[in-house]
Amino acid sequence: MGSFMTTLTVPEKLKLIYEGKAKRLYETNQVDKVLIEFKDDLTAFNGKKHDVIASKGILNAAISAKLFTILEKNGIATHFIEQVDERTILAKRLKMIPLEVVCRNIAYGSLIKRVPLFKPGQKLNRPIIEFFLKNDELGDPFLSEEHIISLEIVREDELNEIKRITRRVNDVLKDFLARVGITLVDFKLEYGWDLNGDLILGDELTGDTMRLWDSKTGRILDKDLYRKGEPLSEVLKAYKECYRRIVLEEVP
Ligand code: TMP
Ligand code: ASP
Repeated sequence: MGSFMTTLTVPEKLKLIYEGKAKRLYETNQVDKVLIEFKDDLTAFNGKKHDVIASKGILNAAISAKLFTILEKNGIATHFIEQVDERTILAKRLKMIPLEVVCRNIAYGSLIKRVPLFKPGQKLNRPIIEFFLKNDELGDPFLSEEHIISLEIVREDELNEIKRITRRVNDVLKDFLARVGITLVDFKLEYGWDLNGDLILGDELTGDTMRLWDSKTGRILDKDLYRKGEPLSEVLKAYKECYRRIVLEEVP
């Protein structure tokens, strides 16, 4: 996958601060920066289904790095600093907001179950933003905006800012992905606060957290293949296809 030309001295990797289902987060000797390592683990249904696909972490690190770079070029503040090796990115350290912010262009997945008036594959006349509490023990429950404000997870003005940035992320990603023949069905974002108190987009942007369909054939190119029980070889093929299209395309 080539060498990584870093423009700055990579901070020293110190202790593991957090291990998620698909990533490990390391503290560094620079208090405001973390190293995020993308694992080969793939999970679904709140971790009940688990497998390892060799090289998935490498594909996802590169896809995330590319998409964060495009967002930054479009003036969106993200935690991404640079990719430092094939499965690691250097990022701003954030205090994460415990929300999963989902944005949908096409009705699918949990939306259909929650609101059966929507038909699977139906194009939404405007993107829908939804919020879920990031809490595995509670099964990531749906939250209304009123719930979020009442629970003081964020203030109303902050929530509005999260929605504004999410719509902008959607516009930028949708346009870029369309250029490489991919329809952005929906995706999940996570935000946090940096040390200056600024709202920053964190986490990852990959086929683990986005629904991506081939624009011509409708073929699924994301983790839904795994959720639907397709063989791991098919899942890997789809992730490689995303890599080929997204990472090898020039940044516009
Ligand atoms: P949903 O239709 O299951 O609510 O998923 C919406 C989007 O969020 C989809 O692109 C997959 C992504 N997602 C995650 O990134 N993490 C999760 O835990 C879940 C349930 C969905
Ligand atoms: N992210 C969750 C898990 O890994 C659920 C999902 O993406 O389907 O278990």
